[in-house]
Amino acid sequence: MSEQENKEGEGQQELVLALSKGRIFDETIPLLKAAGIEVLEDPETSRKLILPTNKPKVRVIIVRATDVPTYVQYGAADFGVAGKDVLQESGATGLYQPIDLQIARCHMAVAVRKGFDYEAAVRRGARLRVASKYVHAAREHFAKKGLHVDIIKLYGSMELAPLVGLSDVIVDLVSTGNTLKANNLVEVERIQEITSRLVVNQASLKLKRKEMQPILEAFKQASVAQESPEKA
Ligand code: ATP
Ligand code: PRP
Repeated sequence: MSEQENKEGEGQQELVLALSKGRIFDETIPLLKAAGIEVLEDPETSRKLILPTNKPKVRVIIVRATDVPTYVQYGAADFGVAGKDVLQESGATGLYQPIDLQIARCHMAVAVRKGFDYEAAVRRGARLRVASKYVHAAREHFAKKGLHVDIIKLYGSMELAPLVGLSDVIVDLVSTGNTLKANNLVEVERIQEITSRLVVNQASLKLKRKEMQPILEAFKQASVAQESPEKA
């Protein structure tokens, strides 16, 4: 950290950004860079959960993807990045969602074992067993279709459920479709598009506006550029 950067921090309030390891961290790095922030340690190799940045008053904390809204709700982090899927399932309140960052893009879908006649099951109003990590989204989707379903909450590896008879269908995230294909499953309904959003603690936004505003602006610009590179 240069003397200049150290001086920059003087008189500023501290900002904490919550990120999860993996794709969210990796895809947020270019946005941070656009805001002049560089994370000084790699969470894949460091065991540290609080990572310094080149800005003395900005730190990144590494949490589970599903825990990001909780850290931000309680103000343990001033802001964080979380998928629309995670935000929909989270009971966290008082979060401000100012920016769709257009990162970690995928979609939520209904999938079944190859050969399972989903359309016929829906037509005859069969009571389907649905395995998913996304129980709220799944319940809402089937309720809209007027179908009664039994939802089985899972925490991962949803693709396995129809293969071993745990469920008839799954609701999961799909990007390339490779995971479905590798497990002999097919997508039968696209539920919604998913991207990750910046979530901000409302009190932090009021109390630390001066420190936060330039970062939010840079994120906004960089995410517009991600969405339509010709506008950059
Ligand atoms: P947790 O560790 O809490 O169980 P997770 O394993 O879902 O969470 P990640 O796999 O890092 O965490 O996913 C983080 C976010 O990235 C998800 O909430 C979703 O919005 C998005 N995402 C998930 N899978 C994909 C994918 N295959 N392609 C693109 N984005 C994805
Ligand atoms: C996600 C999702 C699917 C897979 C889809 O899992 O739950 O399993 O990605 O991606 P694809 O269509 O490109 O194959 P992830 O990689 O996050 O693994 P995890 O759920 O075990 O964290």
